[in-house]
Amino acid sequence: MSPITAPFPLSRPRRLRRTPWIRDLVAETRLSVGDLIWPIFVRDGEGIEEPVASMPGVVRHSVDRAVQAAEMAAALGIPCLAIFPYTDPAVKNPEATEAWNPENLVCRATRAIKSTVPDIGILLDVALDPYNSLGHDGLVRDGVVVNDETLVALERMTLVLAEAGADILGPSDMMDGRVGVMRRALESHDFGDVMIMSYAAKYASGFYGPFRDAVGATGALTGDKKTYQMDPANTDEALREVAADLSEGADMVMVKPGLPYLDVCARVKREFQVPTFAYQVSGEYAMIEAAAANGWIDGDRTAMEALLAFKRAGCDGILTYHAIRAAKILDGMGF
Ligand code: PBG
Repeated sequence: MSPITAPFPLSRPRRLRRTPWIRDLVAETRLSVGDLIWPIFVRDGEGIEEPVASMPGVVRHSVDRAVQAAEMAAALGIPCLAIFPYTDPAVKNPEATEAWNPENLVCRATRAIKSTVPDIGILLDVALDPYNSLGHDGLVRDGVVVNDETLVALERMTLVLAEAGADILGPSDMMDGRVGVMRRALESHDFGDVMIMSYAAKYASGFYGPFRDAVGATGALTGDKKTYQMDPANTDEALREVAADLSEGADMVMVKPGLPYLDVCARVKREFQVPTFAYQVSGEYAMIEAAAANGWIDGDRTAMEALLAFKRAGCDGILTYHAIRAAKILDGMGF
């Protein structure tokens, strides 16, 4: 249906843009603090906030500082944190066993945050790459990232993370069948309320570079992730992946990266009408920050514009490293 408009000058679209109040009144989309999930990085030690060089403004928090960060986020009204570990290379191995160590960094951070800030949601990634000395998301056998053996490791990891208190698990490795394995494991171990937000359409992307720096995986990875993450050329395939994950028991789905894949976000939301999230990834964050630091763009303005774009595309929420900045801006004046 094409909208009915009178010919100019009976119709003058600029009438609706003349003043802030009328623009506000006719705005079709809004961003609110309740739409934001803040990804944070944790590391060993105490009293540490170690800057991530490729992500200006982002730090790796020791667990005690992560608790403070969670308190700040909760005070700003941010509903959920995603916690990623910077794992000591000494505990990484090719079997990624640290992934299901109940004392690993994300488990400790989750327990510490839950005991101090119980009302903030915690989302934990279910993938082996921060723990795998080979840098891949799956177990590697004879140079191949194997699927079904990786699922066994993911099942163990799932139960350990649920036990630590994760509210949402985010399978992020694009292995086949992982959501079903996780959902059955959760159901049969009394974790039936733990949610799964699947990284359903996750692309093999150059935009993850700074993240791999942040979690210390940059040097470890040989080759690329193209045998499991999706080809940036495809959108029909994204719908099949979403359908599969929903049929296996995912509660929410995610598209990743974000801005370069807004078409995928919009299509997923339209086709499935399920809670749909976008991950505005590290490289997207770094681009805005780098350009802003050079004075080439306005950092606040472009960050808010990008976040609003996700809402316009139909996303229910966004994982963004700009969460704190956005929450402060929204608190002050709205956008
Ligand atoms: C791990 C994982 C990655 C990201 C989130 N979980 C990296 C990757 O797949 O290589 C990237 C997040 C970001 O770039 O901000 N499976």
